[in-house]
Amino acid sequence: MRVAMIGTGYVGLVSGACFADFGHHVTCVDKDADKIAALRKGKLPIFEPNLDRLVADNMSGGRLDFATDLKGPVREAEAVFIAVGTPSRRGDGHADLTFVYAAAREIAMAIDGFTVVVTKSTVPVGTGDEVERIFRETRPEADVAVVSNPEFLREGAAIQDFKHPDRIVVGLTDDRATKVMAEIYRPLYLNQAPIIYTGRRTAELIKYAANAFLATKITFINEVADLCERVGADVQEVARGIGLDNRIGAKFLHAGPGFGGSCFPKDTLALIKTGQDYAAPLRIVETVAAVNDTRKRAMARKVSAALGGQLRGKTIAVLGLTFKPNTDDLREAPSIPLITALQDMGAKVRAYDPIGMPAAHAEFPNVKFADGPYACAEGADALVIVTEWEQFRALDLDRVKQVMKQPVLIDLRNVYRPAEMAQYGFVYDSVGRGKPPE
Ligand SMILES: NC(=O)c1ccc[n+]([C@@H]2O[C@H](COP(=O)([O-])OP(=O)(O)OC[C@H]3O[C@@H](n4cnc5c(N)ncnc54)[C@H](O)[C@@H]3O)[C@@H](O)[C@H]2O)c1
Repeated sequence: MRVAMIGTGYVGLVSGACFADFGHHVTCVDKDADKIAALRKGKLPIFEPNLDRLVADNMSGGRLDFATDLKGPVREAEAVFIAVGTPSRRGDGHADLTFVYAAAREIAMAIDGFTVVVTKSTVPVGTGDEVERIFRETRPEADVAVVSNPEFLREGAAIQDFKHPDRIVVGLTDDRATKVMAEIYRPLYLNQAPIIYTGRRTAELIKYAANAFLATKITFINEVADLCERVGADVQEVARGIGLDNRIGAKFLHAGPGFGGSCFPKDTLALIKTGQDYAAPLRIVETVAAVNDTRKRAMARKVSAALGGQLRGKTIAVLGLTFKPNTDDLREAPSIPLITALQDMGAKVRAYDPIGMPAAHAEFPNVKFADGPYACAEGADALVIVTEWEQFRALDLDRVKQVMKQPVLIDLRNVYRPAEMAQYGFVYDSVGRGKPPE
């Protein structure tokens, strides 16, 4: 099967490389000429574990190539995937569909023969209808089926997620498109991945409902964590105690500094807007977004409290900048509002991230960067763990204490145990682990 993947970002590159690995011939297209030039030389524009090898293997196997112009690849393709960005629209939080519609117009001009056009980008309900309308308007004679196939991969575990998905969702009505989609995903349902064929609008909504639900779970446990701190309970044990109930499930019950990343913040906002537009407001999701928004700056107050309420002139060392480990993605990372708030309170910030440093230089012009966790901690008044990279889980705590000005550690990911930190002589605070009354 010949596939064209339009948009070669976190989703397009991973999906394209995995489809090629299944044996399809895939051309990944991107407008960003630098990205494509780098990829052709074997240089990846993003960090994703094991993706470099997957791309290299499939390039050398002749199944994966790259292009800046979609005409040739689209003309030859039986299936064209749209995997361009759908960021929040400035001002109102709706999903900005400019890139999707622009890609649809270009694809319409290039297709030749029956073609399945698949939206993999996360798009609001009804976007598939509009894409179809664009095709009818631009190329009335084109034989095309527009399909929704939202993507559920997680950055940092993207290849595993793509190759072993919990489910594949396909929204369509055209029988010919069903055959094409079945052929594309055949290697996965040989592995018994559940595939849900449904209506296009339903498929579009499944993606948003999934992300909103997960964001709700995180926000729920974050609020329970705040309560734990007040009443002297331990949120990790509460999470375990409820998570072992199969109806609840243990995942996404880790209290922390609030959700961020390239999807949850924008997708919750977009779903809220859809609900409002259709006079079916999603009040729970509205509350989730509002609670999460205030939480990130509240984390800065936690740091300030650990230092007696005064940050002016203090040096704060921040470990971890990306929105989660194993990615270089800084989009909507909790580190961004946290660092801004620390600086607003008069602190100097020094930071270190194992992979996110190149992007961080542009994101944080007023932050000094260190080349390792100990250099970052050197002379600092407090150390804050913001992203739970593996290498921060086993720091040499004696060494950390020795290099710091004072041993104050704020652990926003609950990586360490309070009792252990007390033994090392740290002033230690974490999330949702209240002290029982004496
Ligand atoms: N990142 C994730 O973890 C994730 C997971 C599931 C779903 N999604 C969804 O997938 C979509 C893509 O997300 P992403 O993180 O890969 O975005 P991204 O910003 O990393 O990549 C998008 C790419 O599309 C390219 N592009 C834009 N318009 C183009 C055009 N007309 N022709 C060719 N290329 C074009 C851009 O240059 C960019 O490289 C979004 O809708 C997102 O919500 C993302």
